[in-house]
Amino acid sequence: MKRISEIKNSIYSVGVNARDVELFEGQFFVPLGMSYNSYVVRDNVNFVFDTVDAAFADEWISNLQTVLGKEKPDYLVVQHMEPDHSGSIGKFFEVYPETKIVGNAKTFAMLDQFFGKDIAKNRIVVVDGQTIESENHAFTFVFAPFVHWPEVMLTYDAKTKTLFSADAFGKFGAVDFDDEWTCEARRYYFGIVGKYGMQVQNLLKKATDLEIETICPLHGPVLTDNIDYYIDKYKVWSNYDVESEGVVIAYASVYGNTEKAVDYLKDKLTEYGCEKVVIQNLARTDIHEAIEDAFRYGKLVLASITYNGDIFPSMRSFIEGLIERGYKKRTIATIENGSWAPTANKVMKNAFANSKDIVFTENNVTIRSAMTDENKRVLDALAKELLQ
Ligand code: FEO
Repeated sequence: MKRISEIKNSIYSVGVNARDVELFEGQFFVPLGMSYNSYVVRDNVNFVFDTVDAAFADEWISNLQTVLGKEKPDYLVVQHMEPDHSGSIGKFFEVYPETKIVGNAKTFAMLDQFFGKDIAKNRIVVVDGQTIESENHAFTFVFAPFVHWPEVMLTYDAKTKTLFSADAFGKFGAVDFDDEWTCEARRYYFGIVGKYGMQVQNLLKKATDLEIETICPLHGPVLTDNIDYYIDKYKVWSNYDVESEGVVIAYASVYGNTEKAVDYLKDKLTEYGCEKVVIQNLARTDIHEAIEDAFRYGKLVLASITYNGDIFPSMRSFIEGLIERGYKKRTIATIENGSWAPTANKVMKNAFANSKDIVFTENNVTIRSAMTDENKRVLDALAKELLQ
């Protein structure tokens, strides 16, 4: 399906929708598909911003030709070398061998690694802040290392107040299929760039000096209205701040006894006025949904059976997913279950030993096989403590 449209000032969207893809980057479920965006700017010289996944090279080249007609692209700007965006560079240079390719030193090191040194003969190596102008555009390259790879650069067109934002401000989901931004942009952010909060903050500092009316990301819809909303979300997420009040209970239960304690705690939290309780069964949920929720809300309850003297594998994966993304500034409670030697609480707490600004609750629960009245008493106290 073609996705050609003029955004403004002869800036065209020429990307593709991958509606049938199941996993993005081999691990993220994308039930609403994925988009690989690309942009053409027509002027006295023509620019192309990024290619698309190699699986869609022919469709994308066709889109380019529809917009360019008999003209040719003069510049291919490569903002990000990850193959979901660079995968069609080979096909591009088969069709347009004379085009100048624009990137930074790290871009070209990766280009050679992926495609060999002969892939593009006309190379322009730019530095941070450098500008390339055409009659109606002035493209300034803004380096944004680790948002999401080290070579990433964004491009700001001062004449149209347009930011070509690479992965930043992207989301899961095919464009036009579901353009609601926040939920899938949050899962995308924490799944893919959550670890790099400081680098995103650095980028946002640079962006404060720019007047931005339009954001053209490499995934998801072009953003045109209420730009401050998107930037504010990125400020909260990259600073690891609590976005919404509420309690997330993530649990791993095998025979249902730990789950009963989770249900009891949920009922108590609701009874005591908690506005939002999110339950995540780690054996069933998409782990990246659970990770997204843990970063969204301020309080997290971890409930796990003891398993081989450790914690249940799905709980381990979940906690590792939090830690590798820099989980911090949160309150954590633990519930363990063990029929002969419960150790899960200790293991779960120790896992956060190097995480910053984590507060553990005073009330934590140890179940031995099945919930007792004493367990209920502590769960009741825990519910009250979480709402203080
Ligand atoms: Fe969309 Fe980091 O690639």
